[in-house]
Amino acid sequence: MPRIAVIGGSGVYDFPAENKREEVVKTPYGEVTVTLGRIGGEEVAFLARHGKGHSIPPHKINYRANIWALYELGVERIIATSAVGSLNPNMKPGDFVILDQLMDFTVSRPRTFYDGEESPHDRKFVAHVDFTEPYCPEIRRALITAAKNLALPYHPRGTYVCTEGPRFETAAEIRAYRILGGDVVGMTQCPEAILARELEMCYASVAIVTNYAAGISHQKLTHIEVVELMQKKTKEIVSLIVHA
Ligand code: HPA
Repeated sequence: MPRIAVIGGSGVYDFPAENKREEVVKTPYGEVTVTLGRIGGEEVAFLARHGKGHSIPPHKINYRANIWALYELGVERIIATSAVGSLNPNMKPGDFVILDQLMDFTVSRPRTFYDGEESPHDRKFVAHVDFTEPYCPEIRRALITAAKNLALPYHPRGTYVCTEGPRFETAAEIRAYRILGGDVVGMTQCPEAILARELEMCYASVAIVTNYAAGISHQKLTHIEVVELMQKKTKEIVSLIVHA
């Protein structure tokens, strides 16, 4: 049974493991294909968040099915990756940020397993989970140690602003998020981190800065820019996760 899972964001579609095999997991929210394999003797589950070939946009990802599938497999700890824009001049393209806080500005996504009587499983109750610290301090420590040992450019904490997308932000939105205390902006941490907490799984995420956010960068943002930087960083991301 895998105790650890990796959720690969943009640019991270595979992981280096031995004896890889795919498993289709049935959940109350639909089927999910998970890759299983061994890294250093440890069974690890891998999920490409945007599907194979990046075919699912952030607002259409079946977050509930993904997290439920990992839970069903026995996963206790999740390490996720996410491409982000930076609102913080100290966080440069190419830098890694071991997130410690987030703010949720998404508007249209199912964000809980606990839908009361309408839940499509036997947990038909109302639940309000503590989310003071959205990221697991133990996995964060492991990621920080790994980043340090690998001499990667990293920041040991950072606040993630989750937007609905799929469009990028306006310059005014980015100014507002900065005033509110955001460091980086992306489109996928919510509800992923929330759902992991609801099933009591430890969750941490390493953000990779692919660009300065709208208005901070004076150029137009393109998805290609994000993809190109992620391609350059894939090796470092994978080695950071394997070390952690
Ligand atoms: N905004 C939102 N999501 C992102 C960005 C951005 O600038 N860069 C990478 N993902």
